[in-house]
Amino acid sequence: MGAPGAGKGTVLSKLSKQYQNQLTTVSSGDLLREQIKHNPSSEIASVVASGRLVPNNLMIDMIFNRFDQLDLFSQDKSWLLDGFPRNVNQAIDLDSRLLHMNNSLNLVIELDVPYEVILNRIKNRYIHQPSGRIYSLDYNPPKVPGKDDVTGEPLTKRPDDNVEVFAQRLELYTELVEPLKDYYADRDLLHTISGDSSDIIYPQLLKLVEKKFNTPLEQ
Ligand code: AP5
Ligand code: MG
Repeated sequence: MGAPGAGKGTVLSKLSKQYQNQLTTVSSGDLLREQIKHNPSSEIASVVASGRLVPNNLMIDMIFNRFDQLDLFSQDKSWLLDGFPRNVNQAIDLDSRLLHMNNSLNLVIELDVPYEVILNRIKNRYIHQPSGRIYSLDYNPPKVPGKDDVTGEPLTKRPDDNVEVFAQRLELYTELVEPLKDYYADRDLLHTISGDSSDIIYPQLLKLVEKKFNTPLEQ
């Protein structure tokens, strides 16, 4: 978990590149953007564009459908979620569905980045929508301005990255995060990593993840 712009997507893609065969990642925002691409006039599209949350039942079904598609639980593979759960009801649903599958979370990480740092980042963020790849004009700029490094396709701004909607997303996050943190702290799962830069955050994240594997992951 982490505020919009905290760098969840950025550190997760770094981690999955480093440990390609051992980690599967699922991002709720990427799943929603995929759906919206296929159905741009849907209710989901207008909810996301306004910075509100998609209803819990839709979101949890979407996440577990993706788990099924990936056949996640039949493999001895680790997985990480980005952007889910976002409120206590989603956390309770996730726990109970995982329990049915003899599975459970063993680590929850909060990325804690100051708001003034985040606000600066967002105006510099561009994405390659089909893949979800994230760029920043100053932090990790594309090799060719305005083009995705892998496909050469054009980069775009996220429609929910304008000033008003971003403020709404940040406000909603602030409201929902404290009870969610309490929920996971009570279960001894919560770890918070603080820092202004992913270069400070990423090594700490690696340490936490590797500790859960007991031995360093193969690279
Ligand atoms: P989602 O896509 O999850 O958005 P978010 O949580 O608001 O987070 P972001 O993706 O904006 O930020 P990030 O932390 O991934 O930061 P990033 O790595 O890009 O959700 C979108 C919407 O979908 C929600 O508003 C909601 O409507 C809906 N939704 C999603 N999940 C839901 C759920 N569970 N239930 C209900 N609705 C849900 O980094 C930001 C920028 O900073 C990038 O440009 C990056 O390059 C740059 N950057 C990263 N690190 C650094 C650094 N160290 N220095 C400088 N720049 C950096
Ligand atoms: Mg993201």
